[in-house]
Amino acid sequence: MIHHLRAAGVSVVVDSRGTGVPALLHWGRDLGDLDPADLEALAASAVPAVPPSSIDQALRLSLVPALADGWTGRPAIALDGVDGAPRHVATTREGDVVTAVSRWADAVIATRIELTPQGVVLAGHTIRNEGEEPIAVTAAAVVLPIPDRAREVLDFSGRWSRERQPQRVQPGDGVWLREIRHGRGGHDDAFLMAAGAPGFGFGTGEVWATHVAWSGDTGQWYERTDLGPAVLGAGERLGVVRIAPGDEHATPTVVATWSDSGLDGLSDRLHPWIRSWSTIHSPRPLTLNTWEAVYFDHSLERLEPLVARAAEVGVERFVLDDGWFRGRTDDRRALGDWVVDAERWPDGLTPLIERVNAAGMRFGLWVEPEMVSLDSDLARQHPDWLLTSPAAPTWRFQHVLDLARREVSDHLFARLDALLAEYPIAYLKWDHNRDLLVDDSRRQVIALYRLIDRLRAAHPGVEIESCASGGGRIDLEILRRVDRVWASDTNDPLERQRIQRWTGIVIPPEYLGSHVGDARAHTTGRVANLGFRLATALFGHAGIESDLTAVSPDDRAALATWSAVYRERRGLLHSGRVVRMDAADPAVLIHGVVAPDRRSALFSYAVLEATDAALPAPLRLAGLEPAVRYRVSVVDVGAPALSVQDTPPPWLKAGVTLPGAVLQQVGLPMPLLAPGNALVIAVDEVRAAG
Ligand code: DGJ
Repeated sequence: MIHHLRAAGVSVVVDSRGTGVPALLHWGRDLGDLDPADLEALAASAVPAVPPSSIDQALRLSLVPALADGWTGRPAIALDGVDGAPRHVATTREGDVVTAVSRWADAVIATRIELTPQGVVLAGHTIRNEGEEPIAVTAAAVVLPIPDRAREVLDFSGRWSRERQPQRVQPGDGVWLREIRHGRGGHDDAFLMAAGAPGFGFGTGEVWATHVAWSGDTGQWYERTDLGPAVLGAGERLGVVRIAPGDEHATPTVVATWSDSGLDGLSDRLHPWIRSWSTIHSPRPLTLNTWEAVYFDHSLERLEPLVARAAEVGVERFVLDDGWFRGRTDDRRALGDWVVDAERWPDGLTPLIERVNAAGMRFGLWVEPEMVSLDSDLARQHPDWLLTSPAAPTWRFQHVLDLARREVSDHLFARLDALLAEYPIAYLKWDHNRDLLVDDSRRQVIALYRLIDRLRAAHPGVEIESCASGGGRIDLEILRRVDRVWASDTNDPLERQRIQRWTGIVIPPEYLGSHVGDARAHTTGRVANLGFRLATALFGHAGIESDLTAVSPDDRAALATWSAVYRERRGLLHSGRVVRMDAADPAVLIHGVVAPDRRSALFSYAVLEATDAALPAPLRLAGLEPAVRYRVSVVDVGAPALSVQDTPPPWLKAGVTLPGAVLQQVGLPMPLLAPGNALVIAVDEVRAAG
């Protein structure tokens, strides 16, 4: 049987005839309505020639390609000590899910390929041990063939406060592999691996991409073999997984996306798909986080004025960050002792929360449940609860708890459950500030998921943010359990513009925590003007991370204006289509969000450094309806963008009305923004009178 899955302009063809493991004959542009004879002909014509000095039969790149079948590339599945090749048992199709079952010695492998209504491919294997002896699995990934024209690869790397920096390569023969060994995605997480026709951009080019929905170690690769076929491989990085007789091992889901309209085309599938299962159902509250405002300086006296100021500028959620629990006076101690510090909070957190609630805000709390300081009551009582030896190197002066031990996760659940029962906490910022530094992080990741799931089931109204020293744990499996991700510890808008741009290919803006920080960024020491900070933070789940008691009245008035803009526009910002324009000048970054009905949009035009010409190219707006007439105007976000010019473009003063086609094809001249400035531009349909 040949299965043809079709959705949203994508076709996936799986050939499951015969005894060989089924093969993916096509993943890409929709092939139209093929009848069974067409599919048979497609499969027959797909059989390649047999080259000299090779196996004497046509190479078949199956869903579980095996050495014994002539596949000398990286394996999808490797079973220690098992030779030969898997053989097809049966393939079934239910709706848009094809499950191909094959047997390899005692292992029964069920390979699942689903095509979602948005055209996203979800793939993975379940390996079941039907024998009498344990099976050792050393690789269990998904390998997907991609066409020859996909010769340029984009993936990501980075470091603390500089996550998701793009890197592009054009590998030759061999493997371009990004392996993550942090026990979390980490700051250099490959995140997304995209292969496309060289030169693909945000708006153009054909692209195939993978992402591993897993919060631990992963591997993603692009491989071109001497035989010709190229593949994208993706999965969990395994040490050795032993499957006991009768047991099974399920791989994480690999999320694979094809687009013929560049990287934005990937978002056009991923964002609607994520929104189809998202846990977010309410407007994203403007958040104030206390971290860069007060660090460990916690007391009611210190925080009460901040609460008042936050409410004045329109904050809706007040989050008490690190420093509230017993003995936590700096980052060297006390992790694990999740009880309120009696010295700094003699009456508990109630007086603070009452003030927060009375001011009309909800309360959120920072926790880092998976971690423990050696200088803590928990570590003193349970030194054996550590994941590694107490003598192993600390990281941010802390150790990891062995979450897979039942008593450890029970203890953490009980502590968090008690906090949530005692206080009206609407939100937890769940942090994770170090690598695990163990070869096998799988048990830990599964235990983490269980703990969060258990907590969410017990407290369904409590939202969670995934933070890991900034954006060190952002993936599509944690996203199923959280309502926000902290994209990075840097609030420097210059860094943030890029970090949010690239993180946002996969993650919709409503998830992306994005804060206005101090003028001088704490992470880089760089000074940015307020207008730039406001414009940058507007395009995510916005917040503030600054000591508002030390901010001037003028700047607080600006924040109040900005927060009103955020509240007015967040319906659009958090439901629309994200578009990013490919500006020829790397100093210019343009992005926007267009309403699903294309009647309105909000764009950001940012100049990061000196432009390459005195008159930068006109701003062309993507995603609009060509025939619709739009009013284009600059949004007052509270503080202006600084420009250096004798005269601004005349349209800027009162706005302009133009058809979408003109805005898209001709564009509008921009004011000459100084480096480190951004303009926010609203585009709204002009309805004909009467
Ligand atoms: C790292 C986080 O990324 C910060 O936002 C802050 O919560 C600190 N941890 C607190 O220790």
